[in-house]
Amino acid sequence: MNKKGDINISCKLQEFQVEQLSDAWQNLVERADAARSGSHSPYSNFQVGAALLLDTGEVIIGSNQENAAYPSGLCAERTALFWAGANFPSQKILALAVTVPNRAEHIPFPCGSCLQVISEYQHQQDSPINILLKHPQSQQVYLANGVQNLLPFAFEKSHLPKV
Ligand code: THU
Repeated sequence: MNKKGDINISCKLQEFQVEQLSDAWQNLVERADAARSGSHSPYSNFQVGAALLLDTGEVIIGSNQENAAYPSGLCAERTALFWAGANFPSQKILALAVTVPNRAEHIPFPCGSCLQVISEYQHQQDSPINILLKHPQSQQVYLANGVQNLLPFAFEKSHLPKV
């Protein structure tokens, strides 16, 4: 088989300790963690929290909202993102923090659907959304400076034919 070439893309995650983050970002991680108390997760018993920092300084929180009809539920990230999109449509999102229960063992990565939604808002605002992912049992944080570091091949507006 003759191939024409490869496409190589690199994704970068930067590793920090929470206390190395700016005050605003440390606060965002705390707000995400506090937001877990609003989780409606009787099916998974897995309380996820998300917090968005807007360029006005406003913080928007979200938590996962499950449903007896399982697919009707929504992740913490999208709960926060859609609320921000609906209520602050012209504000830029500077950062998004995500936390999970400390009985979990790994740093959580947002699911593919959430990454796709983050990508939509990032494209629209044309500046990177910093994604902060905290380890459930330590102070370790991964920082993705832009969703392309977690979803390098996002489907976006330019992929649709012009209407
Ligand atoms: N969940 C989130 O809220 N965010 C993620 O990034 C991954 C998963 C939720 C969905 C469901 O309510 C529970 O965690 C278990 O998957």
